Amino acid sequence: MREWDPRTASAAEIRSLVETVNAVLATDLPDDPPWQDVQVRDYLAETMPGERRISWVAEDDRLPEGESEIFAHVSMLLLGDIGVLEIMVHPRLRRRGLGRQLVAVAARRAYLEGFSTIGVEAIGGTPAIAFYESLGFEREYVETRSVLTLSAVDWPALDAMAGAIGGGYRVEYHPGGPPDHLLEAYAQAKLEAQDEDDDLDLAPRSSDPQRLRDSLTTLHKRGLKPYIVLAIHESTGVVAGLTEVVVPAQHPERADQYDTIVVRDHRGYGIDRAIKARMLFELRKAEPGLREVQTWNAQHNESMLKVNAELGYLPDRDWFEYGADVSQLVQSLEPID
Ligand SMILES: CC(C)(COP(=O)(O)OP(=O)(O)OC[C@H]1O[C@@H](n2cnc3c(N)ncnc32)[C@H](O)[C@@H]1OP(=O)(O)O)[C@@H](O)C(=O)NCCC(=O)NCCS
Repeated sequence: MREWDPRTASAAEIRSLVETVNAVLATDLPDDPPWQDVQVRDYLAETMPGERRISWVAEDDRLPEGESEIFAHVSMLLLGDIGVLEIMVHPRLRRRGLGRQLVAVAARRAYLEGFSTIGVEAIGGTPAIAFYESLGFEREYVETRSVLTLSAVDWPALDAMAGAIGGGYRVEYHPGGPPDHLLEAYAQAKLEAQDEDDDLDLAPRSSDPQRLRDSLTTLHKRGLKPYIVLAIHESTGVVAGLTEVVVPAQHPERADQYDTIVVRDHRGYGIDRAIKARMLFELRKAEPGLREVQTWNAQHNESMLKVNAELGYLPDRDWFEYGADVSQLVQSLEPID
């Protein structure tokens, strides 16, 4: 096992990592599309300013020069006072203590660097749940992932939804991200929604204009192409609602729905439904290879779940956030001499 920097990794190492990702997906999430070896290095290496990602790999060290077999990987994104872990172990090498060793090495580094908490996302119905619980992680938050299949969408019904928005609002489409002149208003809408969040902040919102700009730059560098649909309240010029979808270069058949926000004062005018419906039309045009869109919602967010069901999203799996105290984790994982 060694610390590993994707920036300087060989093409063979990146390729091997992608093979392991795909073996993990085929075993644990067989309905998720496999990864392509496109901008994977950028995806792993790039972070927001002020954030750092440290990675380790476990590999077969008996291979000849130039060949590589990475069969386990852990990365830890350090942000604020939290380290966010992502771990994978090749299905053929599980239950031998590798996963536990990877958590131990990352937790030790988090401890040395003064971070107090480790957070992870664990997917319902996969071994990750029993794994993190065995290590003493506690469940903090749950969301449901839903998936929409474009070929199953009722497009005429969607067209009606896209048009059914209260008077006084204008819908705008911005591939690539919000334009400069709207950044301030866009950030304001995000800020207002932030107070309503109760999750662990594993992916904090960009609610000031500079951070928003940085966040868009980082998305582009990582091969994650953003699409935005906005509702502008015409008389005030404020952003009343927004929805963000990202198409990853690594799996362009399945896009990720990021935030959808309707600012409190503008709820009840059909904005949520209209901007999401419009987004699907735009995506269908802009991304011919796209087949599905996935989204995550808190189970108590009934109005959004209802809109998603109308659009054609079907609930897929629960996604959990788990957390652990770093010093406790280091202590419990310390080898006993
Ligand atoms: C979760 C994962 C990293 C575990 O890796 P691993 O090397 O098999 O884990 P370990 O051998 O260190 O397991 C440690 C303990 O976790 C628990 N555990 C792990 N897998 C388990 C399973 N399938 N069922 C029940 N308990 C399990 C056990 O208590 C195990 O100890 P034991 O084998 O002595 O009983 C691996 O299954 C994986 O890569 N999953 C897919 C990716 C993923 O979901 N990552 C987590 C999200 S970031």
